[in-house]
Amino acid sequence: MLTTIEGLGPKPTAGLVGPASEGLQPLARRADGLVGSVIDSSTSLLAAQEHDIVRFAMGAPAPEVIPVELFKQLATQAHDEGSYTYGATEGEPGLIEALVAVTAGTDEPVREERVVITSGGMQGLDLAFKLYVDPGDLVVVESPTYTNGSGTALAYGADLLEVPCDDDGMDVEQLERLVDETGRTPKAIYTIPNFQNPSGVTLSEERRVRMIELAHRWGSVIVDDDPYGLLRFAGQPVRGFNQLSPDDPLIFSVRTFSKILAPGLRVGWVDADPRLRQLLINAKQAMDTCTNVPNQHVVEGFIRSGGLEAHLEGLRSEYRKRKDAMQDSIRRHLGDRVRTTDPEGGFFLWVTLQGEDAQVSSQQLFEIALAEGVAFIPGTALSPSGQFADAFRLCFASTSPERTDVGIERLARALDRARAQGPAV
Ligand SMILES: Cc1ncc(COP(=O)(O)O)c(C=O)c1O
Repeated sequence: MLTTIEGLGPKPTAGLVGPASEGLQPLARRADGLVGSVIDSSTSLLAAQEHDIVRFAMGAPAPEVIPVELFKQLATQAHDEGSYTYGATEGEPGLIEALVAVTAGTDEPVREERVVITSGGMQGLDLAFKLYVDPGDLVVVESPTYTNGSGTALAYGADLLEVPCDDDGMDVEQLERLVDETGRTPKAIYTIPNFQNPSGVTLSEERRVRMIELAHRWGSVIVDDDPYGLLRFAGQPVRGFNQLSPDDPLIFSVRTFSKILAPGLRVGWVDADPRLRQLLINAKQAMDTCTNVPNQHVVEGFIRSGGLEAHLEGLRSEYRKRKDAMQDSIRRHLGDRVRTTDPEGGFFLWVTLQGEDAQVSSQQLFEIALAEGVAFIPGTALSPSGQFADAFRLCFASTSPERTDVGIERLARALDRARAQGPAV
């Protein structure tokens, strides 16, 4: 039986699970903006399958690299009665102190007055759009983009403007032109500058500088969402927004431990203008009072153990191996039927079907591939307007090279079957 992800079509907000509010009066109008995420829904969809599936869909770290035993020990050592009561909304003082200490002297030093601990990166994005976006405001997003981020902007009523990316990230010339064409100025520019989700590309330094100039011209905030920046395994580092324009009130940085430690911890932070701190605290108090306290203590313990840099080194070398292995499998099983990006870090390869295969829609391919035992995220789910029917996102990080080869072989079989079915209607 073929299985689909609800809402995969390019309508009304492709990549997002459509409005569920019909017939549910007296819901607020904003409920229609709560469009959900195909990426997150894929977790439940895959969990419901009984056959073997190679999972390239979720952007999850390799299970083998999550230091579960150490976390258990740290939980035993660090947890006391103080771990199970309400904590400070801005974050546990010990965690903030450890974060400040471990980032001192790095390219991105965290300063106490700029940081609020969040429940993962997603809460950082929610806070950013909550503070900056009124219904009807224009928000620029990359195309393709992380649709959980663009979906959060939509939840606050944003009008989205998609700006194409190439191998150097968002095309800032097109950004300027497309914004000019709207005759409006954006409230926010949402960017994932390093090893972008979903394309894997990195925004060049020249473009970062230009984006900062444009943001100042328009008075737009740059929502700098960078979960993967510490996972560079090749190439040269590119200076971050905060290095290029220190203490810039128009830069709002969202960070998370999800990709470098574990997503289930739900611990991240935002780094923003200190004048925003009380507003951020007020907004967060209306959301969850505080981030999970026991997990903050585990993260603090991990940082204080002194092992973070060695852990990151281990991740970089493992993910490089996995990226190379996936590209190698793609070359062997798919050859020139596809073109992929070549990320220098992070989790994702962006794959575009070539030649006759480009007639196959990635949604059609998704269904057949799922039946064959391999899952990915179709391109249309990664563009609010449903572009990229000929492309899809593969996460190389979660799967061992041996399993990856099995998955890519299944994908090639699925592509043959989809081709035999003919072009999607
Ligand atoms: C670009 C980007 N931003 C934010 C997030 C959300 O991070 P978290 O799991 O910490 O909420 C992710 C996770 O996939 C991501 O890829």
